[in-house]
Amino acid sequence: MLDFTVDQKLCTHCGLCVRDCPARIIAMAAGSLPRIEPDQEAACLQCQHCLAICPAAAIEILGRKPADSLPLASNSFPTLDRMELLLRGRRSVRQYRDENVDPALLKRLLAAVANAPTGVNRRELTFTLIDDKDAMQRLREKVLAGLDTATRIPERYSYLHEAGKAYREHQNDIIFRTAPHALFVSAPPDAPCPNQDIAISLAYFELLAQSAGLGTVWWGIAQMVFIVLPDLKALIGIPPKHLFYAMLFGMPAVKYPRTVQRDNAAVLRRAKI
Ligand SMILES: Cc1cc2nc3c(=O)[nH]c(=O)nc-3n(C[C@H](O)[C@H](O)[C@H](O)COP(=O)(O)O)c2cc1C
Repeated sequence: MLDFTVDQKLCTHCGLCVRDCPARIIAMAAGSLPRIEPDQEAACLQCQHCLAICPAAAIEILGRKPADSLPLASNSFPTLDRMELLLRGRRSVRQYRDENVDPALLKRLLAAVANAPTGVNRRELTFTLIDDKDAMQRLREKVLAGLDTATRIPERYSYLHEAGKAYREHQNDIIFRTAPHALFVSAPPDAPCPNQDIAISLAYFELLAQSAGLGTVWWGIAQMVFIVLPDLKALIGIPPKHLFYAMLFGMPAVKYPRTVQRDNAAVLRRAKI
């Protein structure tokens, strides 16, 4: 049941909800309110565009009321200058303070990131969080001990054998980068776009976290570590069949007073069509 309701005192019959529905299941007969026929409900993407677009705040769906949405005006978003500075100025942070991030801030960030787009709006992501630096330290010790003795490390990653030694003897934390926290985003492989959904939500998390003063670094090396030490997935609690990617984060112990300069880093071509 979608619980699609239209307040007849507020609806102006403008038709915006009808035209914006991606599944085209909202119909409005002349002089009537917009409605979704029961046999059309299964086609709903649950995207809530009808609730979002209604200028009169007349539409409720899925138990969501317009009054509980954040209001948006034409100048509500950060300016291009501010967004550009965030994109250019965020850095991969590899030096962290030995402290936990405020749990209320984390909760806020993850709730916002849950609004990221997913293919066909399927929202099948799971966020598995290491939000305690002592738990992270336990994981670090377990991983480094596992890598000390691992027998299945591919040649290309043979330096992983040295990770424990580098950490213990030189305080060089090449795997965990001194981070107190990690976020694993996972999705079932049969979701419409699992890898894209995972990467998008991590990218959103990174930008949001850095705008809140946190440091982040994508945790690509975790992919190899988890292949070499396959028990880690269950230990951390990532759903067993899920694909995942991860990000390290925490309060940064470094500041970058300027941006880097990579404007020409990507090849730019005009399409030939
Ligand atoms: C998918 C991906 C995986 C990455 N994995 C790691 C990693 O495991 N460890 C690490 O220190 N940095 C990792 N990085 C960070 C890159 O090395 C970094 O983005 C690059 O050096 C540019 O630096 P910047 O992010 O500060 O601009 C990763 C980045 C991406 C996009």
